Amino acid sequence: MNLLGISGSLRAESFNTKLLAAAAQSAEAAGATVSTFDIGTLPLYNQDLDGDDKPDSVVAWKSAIEKTDALVFVSPEYNYGIPGVLKNAIDWASRPGYKSVLRGKPSLILSASMSAIGGARMQAHLKNILAATLTPFYLAPEFVLAAAHKAFDDEGHLADEDTIKRLDRLVRDFMTWAAAD
Ligand SMILES: Cc1cc2nc3c(=O)[nH]c(=O)nc-3n(C[C@H](O)[C@H](O)[C@H](O)COP(=O)(O)O)c2cc1C
Repeated sequence: MNLLGISGSLRAESFNTKLLAAAAQSAEAAGATVSTFDIGTLPLYNQDLDGDDKPDSVVAWKSAIEKTDALVFVSPEYNYGIPGVLKNAIDWASRPGYKSVLRGKPSLILSASMSAIGGARMQAHLKNILAATLTPFYLAPEFVLAAAHKAFDDEGHLADEDTIKRLDRLVRDFMTWAAAD
């Protein structure tokens, strides 16, 4: 199975990008091939640019989604919702409405935050947006990484064994669900 990982943070030392790397490690151990797409390469959405001759990065983004079997979104919560860069990326991918490359693509949502809530409100917001694009998402269990600033060691790996096991189990269960979809 091919997975496409998307981090909702462009920050170099992003906890969410580190969590994506940990999820990718679990997926690869379970036999998946994981690639990532840098949504920071996309221009701001402009419907005038969304015609026959789209920006190269948009063509690459839509093609990456089309080719993959499933998506893994790992994102921070910004002001109780998804970051603008992630909304922008989804907007680019979402056309034509209800018939886009996102339609029917199984997806997993993870979040990391320094807060105790772990980005849970971002997950609810993202689910609402994915529903508008007919993108199915894994329902339960949900995974949030709270106190993310204390969760990684100096090499950027998850430090807590129970968290690693919980993520590993979730990624495997998601892959089983996505393969059956
Ligand atoms: C513009 C902005 C808004 C934020 N809003 C929230 C928020 O609503 N909830 C939350 O838990 N953390 C919020 N944070 C803190 C982020 O969780 C924290 O910066 C986190 O490290 C970002 O993820 P990253 O490490 O992957 O870049 C916000 C941070 C920024 C920069």
